[in-house]
Parts: sequence; structure tokens; C-alpha cells
Amino acid sequence: MKAVYCTAYGAPEVLKVVEIQQPTPKEGELLIRIHATAVNSGDVRIRKADPWAVRLIFGFSKPRQPILGGVFSGEVVGIGSGAHQFKVGDSVFGSTGMGFGAYAEFKTLPESGVIAHKPQSLTHLQAASIPFGAMTALHFIQKANIQVGQKVLVYGASGAVGSAAVQLAKHFGAEVTAVCSGANTELMNRIGADKVINYQKEELSIYDESYDVIYEAVNKLRFSQSIKHLKKGGTLILGAAGLSGMLRAGFSRLFGKKVLTGVIKESIHGMNFLNELIETGSYIPIVDRVFSLNEIAQAHEYVDLGHKKGNVVIQVIPTS
Ligand SMILES: NC(=O)c1ccc[n+]([C@@H]2O[C@H](COP(=O)([O-])OP(=O)(O)OC[C@H]3O[C@@H](n4cnc5c(N)ncnc54)[C@H](OP(=O)(O)O)[C@@H]3O)[C@@H](O)[C@H]2O)c1
Repeated sequence: MKAVYCTAYGAPEVLKVVEIQQPTPKEGELLIRIHATAVNSGDVRIRKADPWAVRLIFGFSKPRQPILGGVFSGEVVGIGSGAHQFKVGDSVFGSTGMGFGAYAEFKTLPESGVIAHKPQSLTHLQAASIPFGAMTALHFIQKANIQVGQKVLVYGASGAVGSAAVQLAKHFGAEVTAVCSGANTELMNRIGADKVINYQKEELSIYDESYDVIYEAVNKLRFSQSIKHLKKGGTLILGAAGLSGMLRAGFSRLFGKKVLTGVIKESIHGMNFLNELIETGSYIPIVDRVFSLNEIAQAHEYVDLGHKKGNVVIQVIPTS
């Protein structure tokens, strides 16, 4: 089968299309023919070894698992002994978790993993855009326990996570202010933001507003600014915080501010919840550009620019 190997840490050129043996499902596993995957900020961080500590977890000189790609939409084409939740022919979507491996034509996964039936209303291309951003935003937004009528600010609202956070905060009844560049105002209106701030023209500080929840999705807003615009008793989500942000979060807790940070936990409950929102039209996929598996380096180059709108999808099977 065709797959993409990350042959070293570095620029997109380290990604090479290779021919390797197709896997066979072991006990309790499914064999999934991948129709579409996505290039997420998670894949890019590993490819670049950014932060450097990536090397400590994923391999010192190159990723031990050479096939990146953490999300997929595809079809069950084989079933290992003892697996009985899905059948051959089922359309599924989900996350491969820290095991990655979705930049390939086939992938085996335990059926108990983060795999759900694909929403019927979505194509595989659209479905592959869902798990990364939406699962991340859902994790933090559920922890923030957003109540109807609360004011929520999403900073970096046009990326995969930010656009999911806007939609989910709206779903839970919040009044949402989205911060993004002027090019994304229309997108923000389309996904339901009540107010849009163009960070290229206006500093957040010119507004005398405070929020119940601030979701800082891209690690671009100064910590002091976030705290300043947070209501007493409010919650700051530092979804993209590095080590210093996490340390600050620890200190803030000492001063009575609630700060949520850390690595998210994906769950099948989350996938099923999202599935329902999608089928009822309460959540829409945001797909920016689509590339083929052969164009994976170009797709990474585009994501490296840091301005994708929602998600960049890789079409593994041309007819998906
Ligand atoms: N905690 C966790 O477990 C976890 C899980 C997943 C992801 N993350 C992290 O979450 C972060 C966001 O991920 P993502 O996939 O959403 O990223 P992304 O899609 O690559 O983000 C791209 C977006 O960032 C926006 N942006 C760039 N510069 C900005 C600025 N100065 N101010 C406001 N927005 C700006 C861009 O909007 P404009 O074009 O409008 O500027 C663009 O739409 C990443 O750092 C990722 O590592 C953390």
C-alpha cells in the first residue's frame, strides 16, 4: 500500500511517499481503508519536532512511528477475530491517537478505539476534518461548563480548534466573540459568532469587555491580557500553551483564577456526541484546501503558513 514516511524532523520535504506492506487486523482490530485524512497542527508539531521535547517522546533523531496522521475517515474492509462492533462495509471516522499512522491507504486499529460510524450527511473529506479540532475544543469546553447566556471569547477562532470552539460554545448557548484576521470574518459569521474582532486592526484591549470563558486557541494573546478580560470566577482555557503557559496556569490557580490547560483526552463518547450535532445540523465541517496523498509535502507547506481556515484535508482515495 501507499503511505507517507516522515524520514527525519524538519521541513515538509522530509515527508516521502513509499510503498509498504498492507497491515492485517489482529484480534479485536479493524482494517480500515482510509479515504481521507487531514494535516493537523499535531502532525506539523511532530514533523518539526516543535517543541524540542517531541524528540523525547516520539524518537530522538526521527519519529519512531514514521507514518504521521492522527485522523481518518474510511471504510471497514477487514475484521480481526473477536471484533464485533463493526462490519465490513461500514463507513467510519475517528482518531488514531498518539499512534498516528493515518497518512496511508490502510490502517489497523482496535475496535475499542476512538472510532465511530461516519455521519451520513458528510463525505469522507468532510468527516476527516472533524475529529482533531472538534475533540480538542469539546474536551476544554465541557470542562469549562459553559452556561446559556455566558460570554465566551475565542482567540484564534478560524483554525481547526478555534472554529470548533466557536460552534460548540454556540451550541451550549453562549454569546460568542471570535478573534481572527479580517479574511475570516465571513467564516465566523457563517459558524454563528455573535461578534468578530479583527486582530490585525483592533487590539482586544480597546474593548472594555470581560468574558466568562476565554478560549485562547493559538497561544498568541498575552497572558496578562487574557486575565484582564476574564470575569471574576471566569475560566481561561490555554489550549495551545507551552510549558511556560502551563506554569503560569499553575500560579493563577493559587490566585483563584480557573485556568484549563494540558493535553486533551479523546473519547468515543465525544465522537458520538459530535456525530449527533452533525446529523442535526448543529455543527458543520470547515474544510479549507484538499490535497492528494502525493501532495502531502505541499499540504504541510500550506499548514506551516499558520493561516489555514479550519482544516486541510488529504484525499487518499480520489473519489471520496
Ligand atoms: N491541548 C491539546 O491537547 C491540543 C490539542 C490539539 C491542538 N492543540 C494546539 O492548539 C493550537 C491550535 O491548533 P489548530 O489546529 O487550531 O491550529 P491551526 O488550525 O493551524 O491555526 C491556524 C489559525 O491560527 C490563526 N492565527 C494565526 N495567527 C494568529 C494571531 N496572531 N491571532 C489570532 N489568530 C491567529 C489563523 O487565523 P488568521 O488566518 O485569521 O490569522 C488560522 O486560522 C496548536 O498550537 C495545537 O498544537 C492542543
